[in-house]
Amino acid sequence: MNILILGSGGREHSLAWAVKQNPKCDRLIAAPGNAGMAEIAECAKLDIMDGGAVVTFAEENAVDFVIVGPEAPLAAGVADRLRDAGVACFGPSAAAAKLEASKAFTKEICDASGAPTAGYARFTEAAPAKDYIREQGAPIVVKADGLAAGKGVIVAMTDDEALAAIDDMFGGEFGAAGAEVVIEEFMEGEEASFFILCDGTDVLPIGTAQDHKRVGEGDTGPNTGGMGAYSPAPVLTDEIAERALAEIIRPTVAEMARRGTPYQGVLYAGLMIKDGAPRLVEYNVRFGDPECQVLMMRLGAQALDLMLACAEGRLADARVNWAEDHALTVVMAAKGYPGSYDKGSVIRGLDGLPETSSEMTFHAGTVLDGGSVVANGGRVLNVTARGDSLQDARDRAYAMVEAIDWPEGFCRKDIGWRAL
Ligand code: AMP
Ligand code: GLY
Repeated sequence: MNILILGSGGREHSLAWAVKQNPKCDRLIAAPGNAGMAEIAECAKLDIMDGGAVVTFAEENAVDFVIVGPEAPLAAGVADRLRDAGVACFGPSAAAAKLEASKAFTKEICDASGAPTAGYARFTEAAPAKDYIREQGAPIVVKADGLAAGKGVIVAMTDDEALAAIDDMFGGEFGAAGAEVVIEEFMEGEEASFFILCDGTDVLPIGTAQDHKRVGEGDTGPNTGGMGAYSPAPVLTDEIAERALAEIIRPTVAEMARRGTPYQGVLYAGLMIKDGAPRLVEYNVRFGDPECQVLMMRLGAQALDLMLACAEGRLADARVNWAEDHALTVVMAAKGYPGSYDKGSVIRGLDGLPETSSEMTFHAGTVLDGGSVVANGGRVLNVTARGDSLQDARDRAYAMVEAIDWPEGFCRKDIGWRAL
Protein backbone atom coordinates (compact mmCIF):
# COMPACT_ATOMS: atom_id res chain seq x y z
CA MET A 1 0.00 0.00 0.00
CA ASN A 2 0.94 3.66 -0.46
CA ILE A 3 1.40 5.49 2.82
CA LEU A 4 1.68 9.21 3.50
CA ILE A 5 3.10 10.52 6.78
CA LEU A 6 2.39 14.15 7.66
CA GLY A 7 5.06 15.98 9.66
CA SER A 8 8.78 16.65 9.77
CA GLY A 9 10.06 15.86 13.27
CA GLY A 10 11.85 13.01 14.98
CA ARG A 11 8.43 11.55 15.76
CA GLU A 12 7.58 11.31 12.08
CA HIS A 13 11.01 9.92 11.14
CA SER A 14 10.54 7.12 13.68
CA LEU A 15 7.03 6.43 12.36
CA ALA A 16 8.41 6.27 8.81
CA TRP A 17 11.24 3.97 9.94
CA ALA A 18 8.82 1.51 11.58
CA VAL A 19 6.26 1.62 8.74
CA LYS A 20 8.97 1.09 6.12
CA GLN A 21 9.95 -2.23 7.72
CA ASN A 22 6.46 -3.63 7.20
CA PRO A 23 6.08 -5.59 3.94
CA LYS A 24 2.62 -4.02 3.47
CA CYS A 25 4.32 -0.70 2.74
CA ASP A 26 5.02 -0.28 -0.99
CA ARG A 27 5.46 3.45 -1.43
CA LEU A 28 6.24 5.78 1.47
CA ILE A 29 5.82 9.55 1.21
CA ALA A 30 6.62 12.11 3.90
CA ALA A 31 5.28 15.64 3.80
CA PRO A 32 7.24 17.78 4.31
CA GLY A 33 9.77 15.33 5.86
CA ASN A 34 13.41 16.01 6.73
CA ALA A 35 16.91 14.89 5.71
CA GLY A 36 16.61 11.59 7.62
CA MET A 37 13.20 10.75 6.19
CA ALA A 38 14.51 11.51 2.70
CA GLU A 39 16.66 8.37 2.96
CA ILE A 40 13.66 6.05 3.32
CA ALA A 41 10.74 8.02 1.85
CA GLU A 42 9.90 10.44 -0.92
CA CYS A 43 9.61 13.90 0.59
CA ALA A 44 6.82 16.07 -0.79
CA LYS A 45 6.23 19.79 -0.43
CA LEU A 46 2.71 20.10 0.92
CA ASP A 47 0.94 22.46 3.31
CA ILE A 48 -0.17 19.88 5.88
CA MET A 49 -2.55 22.40 7.51
CA ASP A 50 -4.56 22.62 4.30
CA GLY A 51 -7.03 19.71 4.34
CA GLY A 52 -8.08 20.28 0.73
CA ALA A 53 -4.48 20.21 -0.49
CA VAL A 54 -3.75 17.04 1.50
CA VAL A 55 -6.83 15.30 0.02
CA THR A 56 -5.86 16.32 -3.52
CA PHE A 57 -2.30 15.10 -2.98
CA ALA A 58 -3.53 11.79 -1.54
CA GLU A 59 -5.87 11.25 -4.50
CA GLU A 60 -3.26 12.15 -7.09
CA ASN A 61 -0.74 9.79 -5.54
CA ALA A 62 -3.12 6.88 -4.89
CA VAL A 63 -2.39 7.08 -1.16
CA ASP A 64 -4.14 4.30 0.78
CA PHE A 65 -3.34 5.39 4.31
CA VAL A 66 -2.37 8.68 5.92
CA ILE A 67 -0.66 8.91 9.31
CA VAL A 68 -0.92 12.36 10.87
CA GLY A 69 2.03 13.15 13.16
CA PRO A 70 1.42 16.53 14.84
CA GLU A 71 -1.66 17.93 16.60
CA ALA A 72 -2.15 21.13 14.58
CA PRO A 73 -3.48 19.48 11.39
CA LEU A 74 -5.70 17.22 13.51
CA ALA A 75 -7.19 20.19 15.35
CA ALA A 76 -7.67 21.87 11.94
CA GLY A 77 -9.75 18.92 10.67
CA VAL A 78 -7.32 17.36 8.19
CA ALA A 79 -8.29 13.82 9.28
CA ASP A 80 -11.98 14.67 8.78
CA ARG A 81 -11.32 15.90 5.26
CA LEU A 82 -9.39 12.74 4.36
CA ARG A 83 -12.02 10.38 5.75
CA ASP A 84 -14.81 12.36 4.05
CA ALA A 85 -12.94 11.83 0.78
CA GLY A 86 -12.67 8.09 1.47
CA VAL A 87 -8.95 8.06 2.37
CA ALA A 88 -8.13 5.95 5.44
CA CYS A 89 -6.40 8.02 8.09
CA PHE A 90 -4.80 7.48 11.49
CA GLY A 91 -5.72 10.35 13.79
CA PRO A 92 -8.79 11.87 15.44
CA SER A 93 -11.41 14.21 14.00
CA ALA A 94 -11.24 17.91 14.87
CA ALA A 95 -14.08 17.35 17.34
CA ALA A 96 -12.15 14.57 19.12
CA ALA A 97 -8.84 16.47 18.90
CA LYS A 98 -10.39 18.96 21.35
CA LEU A 99 -9.01 16.62 24.01
CA GLU A 100 -5.70 18.35 23.32
CA ALA A 101 -6.85 21.60 21.73
CA SER A 102 -8.94 22.69 24.75
CA LYS A 103 -7.94 22.06 28.34
CA ALA A 104 -11.40 23.19 29.51
CA PHE A 105 -13.01 20.60 27.21
CA THR A 106 -10.83 17.84 28.69
CA LYS A 107 -11.92 18.89 32.18
CA GLU A 108 -15.56 18.66 31.09
CA ILE A 109 -14.95 15.13 29.80
CA CYS A 110 -13.25 14.18 33.08
CA ASP A 111 -16.23 15.53 35.03
CA ALA A 112 -18.73 13.66 32.85
CA SER A 113 -16.79 10.37 32.95
CA GLY A 114 -15.57 10.54 36.55
CA ALA A 115 -11.90 10.36 35.54
CA PRO A 116 -9.59 11.44 38.40
CA THR A 117 -7.73 14.69 37.65
CA ALA A 118 -6.73 17.92 39.40
CA GLY A 119 -9.52 20.11 40.81
CA TYR A 120 -10.00 23.23 38.68
CA ALA A 121 -11.91 26.37 37.79
CA ARG A 122 -12.31 28.17 34.42
CA PHE A 123 -12.11 31.91 33.80
CA THR A 124 -12.52 34.31 30.92
CA GLU A 125 -11.61 37.41 32.95
CA ALA A 126 -8.59 38.34 35.01
CA ALA A 127 -10.22 39.71 38.19
CA PRO A 128 -12.16 36.60 39.27
CA ALA A 129 -9.20 34.42 38.23
CA LYS A 130 -6.94 36.39 40.56
CA ASP A 131 -9.46 36.19 43.40
CA TYR A 132 -9.53 32.43 42.95
CA ILE A 133 -5.71 32.22 43.06
CA ARG A 134 -5.57 34.27 46.28
CA GLU A 135 -8.26 32.08 47.81
CA GLN A 136 -6.61 28.75 46.83
CA GLY A 137 -2.98 29.81 47.30
CA ALA A 138 0.19 28.49 45.63
CA PRO A 139 1.45 26.07 44.50
CA ILE A 140 -1.13 26.28 41.74
CA VAL A 141 -1.16 25.69 37.98
CA VAL A 142 -2.35 28.23 35.40
CA LYS A 143 -3.12 26.97 31.89
CA ALA A 144 -4.09 28.73 28.67
CA ASP A 145 -7.11 26.82 27.32
CA GLY A 146 -5.93 26.38 23.73
CA LEU A 147 -2.92 25.04 21.83
CA ALA A 148 0.17 27.03 22.84
CA ALA A 149 2.99 24.84 21.49
CA GLY A 150 3.69 23.43 24.95
CA LYS A 151 4.21 26.87 26.50
CA GLY A 152 0.74 27.54 27.87
CA VAL A 153 1.21 25.95 31.31
CA ILE A 154 2.66 27.80 34.29
CA VAL A 155 3.31 25.71 37.39
CA ALA A 156 3.39 28.58 39.92
CA MET A 157 5.18 28.01 43.20
CA THR A 158 4.13 31.44 44.56
CA ASP A 159 0.92 33.46 44.37
CA ASP A 160 2.80 36.26 42.60
CA GLU A 161 3.94 33.94 39.83
CA ALA A 162 0.38 32.73 39.32
CA LEU A 163 -1.01 36.27 39.30
CA ALA A 164 1.63 37.32 36.74
CA ALA A 165 0.67 34.34 34.56
CA ILE A 166 -2.93 35.58 34.57
CA ASP A 167 -1.77 39.01 33.36
CA ASP A 168 0.31 37.40 30.60
CA MET A 169 -2.49 35.14 29.41
CA PHE A 170 -5.25 37.74 29.38
CA GLY A 171 -2.71 40.27 28.10
CA GLY A 172 -2.57 38.35 24.84
CA GLU A 173 0.80 36.65 25.23
CA PHE A 174 -0.74 33.34 24.14
CA GLY A 175 -3.02 34.76 21.46
CA ALA A 176 -6.42 33.12 21.11
CA ALA A 177 -5.20 30.15 23.20
CA GLY A 178 -5.30 32.40 26.27
CA ALA A 179 -8.83 33.76 25.86
CA GLU A 180 -9.91 31.25 28.49
CA VAL A 181 -7.76 30.11 31.41
CA VAL A 182 -7.99 26.95 33.48
CA ILE A 183 -6.59 27.13 37.01
CA GLU A 184 -5.74 23.79 38.54
CA GLU A 185 -4.81 22.25 41.82
CA PHE A 186 -1.08 21.42 41.91
CA MET A 187 -0.66 17.64 41.87
CA GLU A 188 2.36 16.02 43.47
CA GLY A 189 3.78 12.73 42.28
CA GLU A 190 5.82 11.24 39.46
CA GLU A 191 4.79 11.84 35.85
CA ALA A 192 4.65 9.23 33.13
CA SER A 193 3.18 9.00 29.66
CA PHE A 194 0.77 6.25 28.64
CA PHE A 195 0.02 5.59 24.96
CA ILE A 196 -3.22 3.91 23.99
CA LEU A 197 -4.65 3.21 20.55
CA CYS A 198 -8.40 3.84 20.34
CA ASP A 199 -10.70 2.93 17.45
CA GLY A 200 -13.74 4.76 18.76
CA THR A 201 -14.87 1.84 20.91
CA ASP A 202 -11.98 -0.40 21.88
CA VAL A 203 -8.62 0.51 23.35
CA LEU A 204 -5.19 -1.10 23.12
CA PRO A 205 -2.27 0.11 25.25
CA ILE A 206 0.96 0.21 23.23
CA GLY A 207 3.50 1.39 25.74
CA THR A 208 4.67 3.71 28.46
CA ALA A 209 7.46 6.29 28.49
CA GLN A 210 9.01 9.11 30.46
CA ASP A 211 10.08 12.37 28.92
CA HIS A 212 12.67 14.93 30.12
CA LYS A 213 11.04 18.32 29.63
CA ARG A 214 13.66 20.60 31.17
CA VAL A 215 16.69 21.63 29.16
CA GLY A 216 19.25 21.07 31.92
CA GLU A 217 20.65 18.08 33.75
CA GLY A 218 18.78 17.02 36.87
CA ASP A 219 15.58 18.50 35.36
CA THR A 220 16.61 22.12 35.71
CA GLY A 221 16.23 25.18 33.48
CA PRO A 222 13.45 26.12 31.09
CA ASN A 223 10.90 23.75 29.56
CA THR A 224 11.50 22.31 26.12
CA GLY A 225 9.57 20.05 23.76
CA GLY A 226 11.47 17.14 25.37
CA MET A 227 15.21 16.41 25.64
CA GLY A 228 15.07 12.62 25.80
CA ALA A 229 12.85 9.69 26.72
CA TYR A 230 12.84 6.06 27.62
CA SER A 231 10.34 3.21 27.50
CA PRO A 232 8.98 1.46 29.47
CA ALA A 233 8.40 3.82 32.40
CA PRO A 234 9.00 1.73 35.54
CA VAL A 235 6.70 3.97 37.62
CA LEU A 236 3.76 2.96 35.42
CA THR A 237 3.47 -0.61 36.64
CA ASP A 238 1.00 -3.04 35.04
CA GLU A 239 -1.29 -2.54 38.00
CA ILE A 240 -1.30 1.26 37.68
CA ALA A 241 -1.72 0.98 33.91
CA GLU A 242 -4.80 -1.22 34.47
CA ARG A 243 -6.20 1.35 36.87
CA ALA A 244 -5.55 4.16 34.39
CA LEU A 245 -7.36 2.18 31.68
CA ALA A 246 -10.33 1.42 33.93
CA GLU A 247 -10.65 4.80 35.66
CA ILE A 248 -9.46 7.29 33.01
CA ILE A 249 -9.02 5.97 29.47
CA ARG A 250 -12.06 3.72 28.93
CA PRO A 251 -14.46 6.23 30.56
CA THR A 252 -13.04 8.98 28.31
CA VAL A 253 -13.44 6.90 25.17
CA ALA A 254 -17.00 5.95 26.19
CA GLU A 255 -17.92 9.58 26.90
CA MET A 256 -16.51 10.72 23.53
CA ALA A 257 -18.55 8.03 21.75
CA ARG A 258 -21.67 8.95 23.72
CA ARG A 259 -21.30 12.54 22.51
CA GLY A 260 -21.18 11.40 18.89
CA THR A 261 -17.49 12.32 18.54
CA PRO A 262 -15.71 8.96 18.88
CA TYR A 263 -11.96 9.09 19.42
CA GLN A 264 -9.83 7.33 16.78
CA GLY A 265 -6.05 7.46 16.90
CA VAL A 266 -3.45 7.36 19.61
CA LEU A 267 -4.38 8.86 22.94
CA TYR A 268 -1.37 10.08 24.88
CA ALA A 269 -2.31 10.37 28.53
CA GLY A 270 0.03 12.36 30.76
CA LEU A 271 -0.45 10.83 34.21
CA MET A 272 0.60 11.91 37.69
CA ILE A 273 1.20 8.91 39.92
CA LYS A 274 1.13 9.10 43.67
CA ASP A 275 0.63 6.31 46.22
CA GLY A 276 -0.14 3.85 43.44
CA ALA A 277 -3.00 5.93 42.01
CA PRO A 278 -2.94 7.65 38.60
CA ARG A 279 -4.56 11.02 37.89
CA LEU A 280 -4.81 12.69 34.49
CA VAL A 281 -2.55 15.70 33.88
CA GLU A 282 -3.47 16.14 30.23
CA TYR A 283 -4.33 14.39 27.01
CA ASN A 284 -2.52 14.76 23.73
CA VAL A 285 -4.11 13.46 20.54
CA ARG A 286 -0.88 12.29 18.88
CA PHE A 287 2.32 10.50 19.76
CA GLY A 288 4.76 12.35 22.00
CA ASP A 289 7.99 13.64 20.53
CA PRO A 290 10.51 12.17 21.54
CA GLU A 291 8.40 9.44 23.24
CA CYS A 292 7.31 8.11 19.84
CA GLN A 293 10.93 7.39 18.93
CA VAL A 294 11.35 4.92 21.81
CA LEU A 295 7.93 3.35 21.22
CA MET A 296 8.64 2.81 17.50
CA MET A 297 12.07 1.36 18.29
CA ARG A 298 10.33 -1.22 20.50
CA LEU A 299 7.34 -1.93 18.25
CA GLY A 300 9.08 -1.98 14.85
CA ALA A 301 7.09 -3.12 11.80
CA GLN A 302 3.97 -4.12 13.78
CA ALA A 303 3.31 -0.41 14.40
CA LEU A 304 1.76 -0.20 10.91
CA ASP A 305 -0.55 -3.17 11.51
CA LEU A 306 -1.66 -1.65 14.81
CA MET A 307 -2.34 1.79 13.30
CA LEU A 308 -4.30 0.15 10.46
CA ALA A 309 -6.34 -1.89 12.94
CA CYS A 310 -7.03 1.32 14.80
CA ALA A 311 -8.17 3.22 11.70
CA GLU A 312 -10.32 0.29 10.53
CA GLY A 313 -12.06 -0.33 13.87
CA ARG A 314 -10.42 -3.72 14.44
CA LEU A 315 -8.65 -3.13 17.74
CA ALA A 316 -10.80 -5.67 19.60
CA ASP A 317 -8.86 -8.40 17.77
CA ALA A 318 -5.45 -6.71 17.70
CA ARG A 319 -2.54 -7.75 19.91
CA VAL A 320 0.82 -6.18 20.62
CA ASN A 321 3.84 -8.45 20.36
CA TRP A 322 5.90 -7.39 23.35
CA ALA A 323 9.56 -7.98 23.96
CA GLU A 324 11.14 -7.54 27.39
CA ASP A 325 13.27 -4.72 26.06
CA HIS A 326 14.04 -1.09 26.83
CA ALA A 327 14.64 1.85 24.53
CA LEU A 328 16.15 5.26 25.21
CA THR A 329 16.55 8.34 23.06
CA VAL A 330 18.84 11.33 23.55
CA VAL A 331 17.82 14.58 21.87
CA MET A 332 20.63 16.64 20.35
CA ALA A 333 19.61 20.28 20.05
CA ALA A 334 21.18 23.43 18.67
CA LYS A 335 23.06 25.44 21.32
CA GLY A 336 20.72 28.11 22.64
CA TYR A 337 17.55 25.99 22.42
CA PRO A 338 14.86 26.47 23.79
CA GLY A 339 15.85 30.13 23.42
CA SER A 340 17.24 31.52 20.18
CA TYR A 341 19.73 29.42 18.21
CA ASP A 342 21.48 29.45 14.85
CA LYS A 343 20.56 27.31 11.88
CA GLY A 344 22.85 26.07 9.13
CA SER A 345 25.69 24.31 10.99
CA VAL A 346 26.97 21.09 9.40
CA ILE A 347 26.58 17.80 11.30
CA ARG A 348 29.33 15.24 10.65
CA GLY A 349 29.81 11.64 11.67
CA LEU A 350 26.30 10.43 10.88
CA ASP A 351 27.41 8.13 8.04
CA GLY A 352 29.43 5.92 10.35
CA LEU A 353 26.58 5.35 12.81
CA PRO A 354 24.83 1.98 12.99
CA GLU A 355 21.34 1.77 11.52
CA THR A 356 19.87 -1.45 12.82
CA SER A 357 16.65 -2.63 14.42
CA SER A 358 18.12 -1.55 17.76
CA GLU A 359 20.19 1.54 16.94
CA MET A 360 18.95 4.46 14.94
CA THR A 361 19.49 8.20 14.72
CA PHE A 362 16.15 9.82 13.96
CA HIS A 363 16.27 13.26 12.41
CA ALA A 364 14.15 16.19 13.56
CA GLY A 365 15.27 19.66 12.40
CA THR A 366 17.64 18.71 9.59
CA VAL A 367 17.89 19.51 5.87
CA LEU A 368 20.22 18.28 3.16
CA ASP A 369 22.46 20.97 1.73
CA GLY A 370 24.68 19.81 -1.12
CA GLY A 371 25.16 16.37 0.36
CA SER A 372 25.70 17.60 3.93
CA VAL A 373 23.21 17.24 6.75
CA VAL A 374 22.61 20.70 8.17
CA ALA A 375 20.82 21.77 11.37
CA ASN A 376 17.57 23.52 10.62
CA GLY A 377 15.73 23.67 13.93
CA GLY A 378 15.99 23.61 17.73
CA ARG A 379 15.71 19.89 18.34
CA VAL A 380 17.80 18.33 15.60
CA LEU A 381 18.61 14.63 16.19
CA ASN A 382 17.20 11.81 18.34
CA VAL A 383 19.89 9.24 19.02
CA THR A 384 17.98 6.11 19.90
CA ALA A 385 18.95 2.61 21.03
CA ARG A 386 17.28 -0.51 22.37
CA GLY A 387 18.73 -2.99 24.84
CA ASP A 388 17.99 -5.76 27.30
CA SER A 389 18.11 -3.24 30.13
CA LEU A 390 17.68 0.50 30.34
CA GLN A 391 21.36 0.85 31.21
CA ASP A 392 22.32 -1.11 28.10
CA ALA A 393 20.06 1.04 25.88
CA ARG A 394 21.48 4.17 27.47
CA ASP A 395 25.13 3.14 27.04
CA ARG A 396 24.56 2.38 23.37
CA ALA A 397 22.72 5.64 22.72
CA TYR A 398 25.45 7.73 24.36
CA ALA A 399 28.16 5.81 22.45
CA MET A 400 26.44 6.96 19.25
CA VAL A 401 26.22 10.53 20.55
CA GLU A 402 30.00 10.46 21.09
CA ALA A 403 30.52 9.64 17.41
CA ILE A 404 28.53 12.63 16.17
CA ASP A 405 30.68 15.63 15.29
CA TRP A 406 28.53 18.70 15.78
CA PRO A 407 30.19 21.43 17.87
CA GLU A 408 27.13 23.69 17.53
CA GLY A 409 24.88 21.12 19.26
CA PHE A 410 24.39 19.84 22.80
CA CYS A 411 22.48 17.17 24.69
CA ARG A 412 21.60 16.26 28.26
CA LYS A 413 24.03 13.70 29.63
CA ASP A 414 21.60 12.23 32.18
CA ILE A 415 18.68 10.85 30.18
CA GLY A 416 17.17 7.99 32.19
CA TRP A 417 18.49 9.18 35.56
CA ARG A 418 15.17 8.84 37.35
CA ALA A 419 14.77 5.20 36.41
CA LEU A 420 18.44 4.31 36.92
P1 AMP B 1 0.66 20.01 30.21
O1 AMP B 1 1.00 20.82 28.99
O2 AMP B 1 -0.75 20.09 30.66
O3 AMP B 1 1.27 18.64 30.15
O4 AMP B 1 1.55 20.67 31.38
C1 AMP B 1 2.94 20.73 31.26
C2 AMP B 1 3.56 20.20 32.51
O5 AMP B 1 3.12 20.97 33.62
C3 AMP B 1 3.15 18.79 32.86
O6 AMP B 1 3.91 17.83 32.18
C4 AMP B 1 3.40 18.76 34.34
O7 AMP B 1 4.77 18.60 34.62
C5 AMP B 1 3.00 20.15 34.75
N1 AMP B 1 1.60 20.17 35.23
C6 AMP B 1 0.49 20.40 34.49
N2 AMP B 1 -0.62 20.35 35.26
C7 AMP B 1 -0.21 20.10 36.51
C8 AMP B 1 -0.86 19.94 37.77
N3 AMP B 1 -2.18 20.09 37.89
N4 AMP B 1 -0.11 19.68 38.86
C9 AMP B 1 1.24 19.58 38.77
N5 AMP B 1 1.92 19.72 37.62
C10 AMP B 1 1.22 19.98 36.50
N1 GLY C 1 7.34 15.28 24.58
C1 GLY C 1 6.15 15.94 24.94
C2 GLY C 1 5.16 16.04 23.89
O1 GLY C 1 5.29 15.51 22.81
O2 GLY C 1 4.13 16.69 24.12
